[in-house]
Amino acid sequence: MFQKKKDKLFVTDDRLDSVAVIMDGNGRWAKRRMLPRTAGHVAGAKNVVSVLETFRKIGVHHVTLYAFSTENWKRPQEEVDALMNLIYQYLDTVVIPRIRDDGQFSVVFLGDKSPLPEKLREKCIEVEEMAKGRPFICNVALNYGGRDEILHAANRAVADGHKEITADVLSSYMYTSGSPDPDLLIRTGGDLRISNFLLWQCAYSELYFTPTLWPDFDEGEIMKAVNDFYGRKRRFGGLDKEEEQTE
Ligand code: IPE
Ligand code: IPE
Ligand code: MG
Repeated sequence: MFQKKKDKLFVTDDRLDSVAVIMDGNGRWAKRRMLPRTAGHVAGAKNVVSVLETFRKIGVHHVTLYAFSTENWKRPQEEVDALMNLIYQYLDTVVIPRIRDDGQFSVVFLGDKSPLPEKLREKCIEVEEMAKGRPFICNVALNYGGRDEILHAANRAVADGHKEITADVLSSYMYTSGSPDPDLLIRTGGDLRISNFLLWQCAYSELYFTPTLWPDFDEGEIMKAVNDFYGRKRRFGGLDKEEEQTE
């Protein structure tokens, strides 16, 4: 399913167009090095662009990154403040020049921006407004929670006068409206849970868990996940083509 050409792997079909990643393990990465947790977040942030570049190289057009959950506000105030500052700095110094110079990427934030510090909220809006609908879309889940998203969508649909909430209506009110559901959900850091990420959208996503910590999740690790994905049979509740033929 993959062809290797001049040392570059690329996907030859469109089965893998949308990937979601729970970027977990920054704190443990730092702890192993006797560094403060925030040093792990700095290392994690540095890894984001190279991971996005690898996904682009192999033909994945939608990447959804879990950056901060609705539950992450429970962390010590200093860590929350450090994360908010780091995300702001990263948008300002890495993402904005990239969107401007590259021409291929656009960024969409998933989640309620209103509890974010004002400076960060404005920066997120600036980033979103810079470019829309480019070939490679990076969704950044920031103050995102799957339950929060579903409730928010249902309440907005009701407020707009919908009497019956169908799957299509609900999807159209989700933060991810217009984005394809993830084909593959990756979680780094070794925990085997979803932690309130994309509960609606991951109904049929293939799940891949790796103990590798997020700052160490490199191209080789991505290709392991992608190769694993291509070994899966996605049935969506139906039967395999071969199984159908033997009936
Ligand atoms: C993920 O790394 C980053 C965020 C949740 C913002 P963690 O900070 O959860 O790292 P661990 O899980 O404690 O190692
Ligand atoms: C999930 O990681 C959230 C992000 C990666 C942003 P957590 O570290 O918050 O998840 P739990 O607490 O281990 O479930
Ligand atoms: Mg964690």
